[in-house]
Amino acid sequence: MKQDMAVNQPDTEPHVVVSRLNHHFDLSGGLLARALRGGERKLLHAVADVSFSIERGETFALVGESGSGKTTIARILAGLMPARSGEIRIDGRPIRAAAARDEGLAVIQMVFQDPYASLNPRWRVGRIVGEPIRALPQTERIRRVAELLELVGLHALDAGKYPHQFSGGQRQRIAIARSLSANAPLLVCDEPTSALDVSVQAQILNLMRELQGQFDLTYLFISHNLAVVRYMATKIGVLYLGRLVEVAPASRIFSAPRHPYTQMLLEAVPGKGRERTSIKGEMPSPIAPPSGCPFHPRCAYAIDVCRKVTPEFRNGNACHRADELELPGTAAAVG
Ligand SMILES: Nc1ncnc2c1ncn2[C@@H]1O[C@H](COP(=O)(O)OP(=O)(O)OP(=O)(O)O)[C@@H](O)[C@H]1O
Ligand SMILES: [Mg+2]
Repeated sequence: MKQDMAVNQPDTEPHVVVSRLNHHFDLSGGLLARALRGGERKLLHAVADVSFSIERGETFALVGESGSGKTTIARILAGLMPARSGEIRIDGRPIRAAAARDEGLAVIQMVFQDPYASLNPRWRVGRIVGEPIRALPQTERIRRVAELLELVGLHALDAGKYPHQFSGGQRQRIAIARSLSANAPLLVCDEPTSALDVSVQAQILNLMRELQGQFDLTYLFISHNLAVVRYMATKIGVLYLGRLVEVAPASRIFSAPRHPYTQMLLEAVPGKGRERTSIKGEMPSPIAPPSGCPFHPRCAYAIDVCRKVTPEFRNGNACHRADELELPGTAAAVG
């Protein structure tokens, strides 16, 4: 399988390159609603000018408060919705072309928070897992499905059961087996373990790491749980109001955050010998974001320029004061 995936992949650029991705939702309503409001359009900027890259075999985690745009980016990357502008390249090819490669096998698969909602309840597991390889001869398909089920810690005989006959963790294993069956080298995982008990969560995360090592998988990983992110991620992107405010190797994000918002997120995690502090203030509305740096109304370090000028993303962060501030990190284990 690893060999299949490695065919025709030039090593000239990272596995995934996302450039200047923008997406807004139009909340104006229909033509009539707009006419009544005097033609004014109401746009919600969910993703603003987001660029990042992911190397093959790496786990890039997106973190940020609820509504910061994580799922929107995940859905665009997985091809479930188009972006308004920007470019996504997989293995050096624009995403649409990449998705059409390999005789229709998707290069990107998505694992959702609620595996039950994403598994067809009327299909047996064998059909669900075998769906991406339905073009294979039946005997070969059955053998492959059995192999995949065992690979994710289930039994080959589970192919004959329905999703409701499994626990949440087992259903997530089925969803992972389906992703592997599509032979996709990139998995987009949006809160894959958030709905699971802590012990089951650890099993699924370990399975994901094992499979990543075995098949050189690339993950875009989303979790609101920073302990989980620390365990899984090699690189982290911090989102605020649809903008990336910091991107760095995971260890650096935790030990020496450069953006005050990153530091605020870390402070909200309970560590050894310290209490969890709550996140201060609320995220402003993405319909009318603040002037200048969108984080300035909540930032303890904001100065005049922060209120007026939107900082450019440079050297891994978007903060006017990143070079002069020395923000404390968190050395203690989180979780
Ligand atoms: N279909 C939609 N129509 C209108 N607005 C939307 C739609 N989907 C998302 N939004 C808005 O876009 C912004 C980003 O939403 P998104 O779901 O990407 O956030 P998130 O970071 O995944 O949040 P959470 O942590 O709660 O899952 C939010 O302000 C949200 O309300
Ligand atoms: Mg989300």
